[in-house]
Amino acid sequence: MKDPKIIVALDFPDHGQAIEFSRRTSPDQCRLKVGKELFTSAGPALVEELIDSGYEVFLDLKFHDIPNTVEKAASAAARLGVWMLNVHALGGAEMMRAAREGIEVVANRPFLIAVTVLTSMSPRDLQEIGMEIPLPQLVDRLAQGAIESGLDGVVCSAREAPMLRASIGDAALLVTPGIRPEWAAANDQHRIVTPRQALENGASYLVIGRPITQHADPAEALRLITQSIS
Ligand code: C5P
Repeated sequence: MKDPKIIVALDFPDHGQAIEFSRRTSPDQCRLKVGKELFTSAGPALVEELIDSGYEVFLDLKFHDIPNTVEKAASAAARLGVWMLNVHALGGAEMMRAAREGIEVVANRPFLIAVTVLTSMSPRDLQEIGMEIPLPQLVDRLAQGAIESGLDGVVCSAREAPMLRASIGDAALLVTPGIRPEWAAANDQHRIVTPRQALENGASYLVIGRPITQHADPAEALRLITQSIS
């Protein structure tokens, strides 16, 4: 089985557009990420449809709740057959351990990763909510907590990847959004990294949305990016 490094963010409003996109590419070329917008509008049936057509799906719902609720939600995601899912590391060690237990309900469990600090948060935003610890230290601490709780890795910026590789090791999965090929618009992403640079920095998988999904020819965009990293 191929192990494509690119996870395409299916940030579409509805079932129709997501399925149309999935027909233009193939499971050999990419994995697919279903986030809160698409999941809320199209639901688990869409996820099952994508899996039935051969895709491995990253369910990006960033669970953050009491441990019991997160455990049950993680079990439900695992039963859906997703390849990867995530939680917020800010939910704490007990919550992350519960999520890890939750995914054991299936024989071939999905990968479980954690979001440390949302990249949309600035140091000032953190201060405003009473978090005085410097942002890189907070990211590092949350990432270490995730690994200690039995998670497989974290979502992070490709710029944080070298620091995290050093602190949480080579086995951890580093899943990095904020990726832009040289030819693509930055959109609202501020700290962008090229696909090749992200992998050189230690990323395991690249989450890429608009440079592919909004391209006039998505299959060609995916092919160009794949070529740039092979
Ligand atoms: O279109 P673009 O390539 O910017 O999409 C990036 C995807 O990664 C989006 O689905 C976005 O929600 C997600 N993401 C992100 N930054 C994070 C975590 C997730 O851009 N820190």
